[in-house]
Amino acid sequence: MRTQVGIIGAGPAGLLLSHLLTLRGIDSLVVEDRSRSYCEARQRAGLLEDGTVKLLREADLAQRLDAEGLEHGGIYLQFAGERHHLDFRDLTGGRTVTIYAQTEIVKDLIARRLADGGALEFEVADTAVAGLDTDRPVLSYTAAGGERREVACDAIAGCDGFHGISRPAIPAGLLRVWDRAYPYAWLGITAEVPPSTDELIYDRHPEGFALHTMRTPQVSRLYLQVRPDERIEEWPDDRIWAAFQRRLALPGWELKEGPIFDRAITPMRSFVSSPMRYGRLFLAGDAAHIVPPTGAKGLNLAMADVTVLADALEALLRGDSRPADGYSDACLGRVWRATHFSWWMTTMLHVAPDADPMTEELQLSQLRYVTSSRAAATSLAENYTGYPPLR
Ligand code: FAD
Ligand code: DHB
Repeated sequence: MRTQVGIIGAGPAGLLLSHLLTLRGIDSLVVEDRSRSYCEARQRAGLLEDGTVKLLREADLAQRLDAEGLEHGGIYLQFAGERHHLDFRDLTGGRTVTIYAQTEIVKDLIARRLADGGALEFEVADTAVAGLDTDRPVLSYTAAGGERREVACDAIAGCDGFHGISRPAIPAGLLRVWDRAYPYAWLGITAEVPPSTDELIYDRHPEGFALHTMRTPQVSRLYLQVRPDERIEEWPDDRIWAAFQRRLALPGWELKEGPIFDRAITPMRSFVSSPMRYGRLFLAGDAAHIVPPTGAKGLNLAMADVTVLADALEALLRGDSRPADGYSDACLGRVWRATHFSWWMTTMLHVAPDADPMTEELQLSQLRYVTSSRAAATSLAENYTGYPPLR
């Protein structure tokens, strides 16, 4: 078997890459070890940067996003019993962010790939790569029906997330890795209740961080800082809502509760590996880097990577290897900016188990600065809406 680009993983990175390649007349095969319904239901991110929305529009993928996405012109920062609004439109010259769930992006992308006749295989097993340092790398896997396949490619894109096989396929010693685990995790819930707020609320509370976000005008999504070793069984509904009521409380404001239909605990880490390329293997998205979710950068970074990669692969297949040679550096500038921003938002808003009173005052001082100085607020807004702007 033969394809131009073999793509491992049908997450946002792999699916968008295969679509962008089709727009450039390049054929690809996407292999995914989970089922289609699992990929479409996996609850994760929900917030798109300004440039990500524009990119999806340019790629003719935004029909449902434009109809159902919720545009936001700012956020609230809450701390010490005060809630402050940051107006991104005003601070950034009109830039906004949009709530549109990763589940919906994945559904839209899968539907579009199939409508365009794209090759997309779910429930494969034992994915492997070989010949990465040649110009004819091989992607092999066992198809859902049990048949072992070998596909000769011009290039392979490792879009298989943090636990995939692509990054470990790069010989040890060639990768440099930066890794930091945080001493807390997020308990995320989705609930059948209209959001209690017009804009997202990021809240620092002495008990820990809380975030109120949303999915639709009828569905709320909320996150709660918990211990990294916390078990979801320890959190019945009434305990979850009581924690949100305490942490988000503000005189004159009411948090509405409703049935919780999805819950999960996510560990938090910052991780970057470099370079994002070995021979004809190119890593994109979570396969190469992870950020803690505060600030919602993971999904946006994955989509930014494959935008650069689509151009680099198009040139490479034409015989010009320069953009492919520059791929890693081109991505890592944005990756490190988002890595710093996510670390900064995370450490400003969470309460570490060993935090001393000095740390608390430093956090509060930073929050007061960001909510009182236009210069400081502009820096947050510029990063939050996406820096450097993708479009
Ligand atoms: P993924 O979405 O992980 O896709 C990789 C795909 O590869 C998966 O479908 C996987 O099944 C497949 N795969 C793996 N191994 C193989 C293999 N060997 N063979 C074939 N296929 C394989 N970001 C935010 O901005 N905000 C959030 O609130 C947020 N919450 C998150 C919660 C969780 C639990 C996780 C894990 C991530 C969260 N993120 C969040 C991050 C964001 O969802 C990711 O950055 C984004 O999914 C990255 O897309 P990706 O395509 O690179 O990787
Ligand atoms: C969402 C997640 C985030 O991590 C964030 O910072 C903002 C929004 C969300 O799931 O909607």
